[in-house]
Amino acid sequence: MPLVPPSIESLRPYEAGRTIESVQREYGLARVVKLASNENPLGSSPKALEAVARSITHSHRYPNGGLELREVLAREFDLKIENVIAGSGSEGIMSSIIRTFLCDDDEVLTTEAAFIGFQVLAKSRGVRYRTVPYRDWHYDLPALAEQINEHTKVIYLANPNNPTGTIFTKQEFNEFYRHVPERVLIILDEAYFEYAKDNPRYPDSMHYRYDNVITLRTFSKIYGLAGVRIGYGFAHEELIRNLLKVKLPFEPSTTAQAAGIGALADKEFLHRSLELNARGMRVLIEGLHDLGIQAVPSEANFVMAVLPDEADVDRTVENLLREGVVVRPLRAFGLPGCLRISTGTDEENQLCIEALWRSHAASIGAASRS
Ligand SMILES: Cc1ncc(COP(=O)(O)O)c(C=O)c1O
Repeated sequence: MPLVPPSIESLRPYEAGRTIESVQREYGLARVVKLASNENPLGSSPKALEAVARSITHSHRYPNGGLELREVLAREFDLKIENVIAGSGSEGIMSSIIRTFLCDDDEVLTTEAAFIGFQVLAKSRGVRYRTVPYRDWHYDLPALAEQINEHTKVIYLANPNNPTGTIFTKQEFNEFYRHVPERVLIILDEAYFEYAKDNPRYPDSMHYRYDNVITLRTFSKIYGLAGVRIGYGFAHEELIRNLLKVKLPFEPSTTAQAAGIGALADKEFLHRSLELNARGMRVLIEGLHDLGIQAVPSEANFVMAVLPDEADVDRTVENLLREGVVVRPLRAFGLPGCLRISTGTDEENQLCIEALWRSHAASIGAASRS
């Protein structure tokens, strides 16, 4: 057996979106607009930042494993603390789930081109990772149900989904759930919950609790705390009790926990962020539509554009980078003909659409010359 297990050797590392600094350096640009990682363009919740500043003075003490945040979340969502876990982002909790529940012969089942963070984590465990194709860019829940076998242990569903932005309804989920044995754990990733929650078709999983479902949410998106690493989950107390045995004892950090508590109290920031996002979604979707580019209707803070082919994606991403606009090509997710654009400020959205028009005009010019 080699030192590095084959499942790790063959793994492609997580490719994060380009950083602003690296694009500035490479293209010699003073200003770069990053619309690549579904972050909040307004920055962080001010109440979260105040809480971070206060908590920093306790940095010489070890954290308490997220106890206070769990208490606050339990009160906010009318649960027992035993049903709540906090971690270093929802990916921190996903990592604990993978280490807690998966054995060597188990299988993971999800959609094609699922959220890349989950793909990397699940594949690093070395178990069989199986997928079914999208249907019209939505999870094909009936096809997923058909694929469940005696080895299936974890099913990963993101609602809204990243990178497509699409949702499934409560009725669709319930129909699917009828086919899921109790020994299978469903991870219901609701990282974009806040953006979708006012859509009457969107089911808040807090209102359809099942014992083998764990809901994950995050402060990285609408609360603007992606760099702080704080997320949380809700599940049956047996699941949480076992996850707490495996979770790193001092995760989340004291500062991250304080940020989460501060953010939860900041309803005004939440409201402002939602309004900005709704405007941004309209501008991006209409802008893509006017350019004749297929944009998948989205319930999150990003939109997926479907281009004619991979070369088109590469050209568009490169043209935008030269203008200082960073979007996300989806090759690493498994969708080489698609790219994803996060909503920015009003000005950033406008800049992005204008840059797309120039890129489009350049492509037409190149095609007519050839
Ligand atoms: C579906 C989904 N889940 C989880 C995450 C990661 O969240 P966190 O920053 O809390 O780890 C993301 C981030 O892009 C995401 O899109």
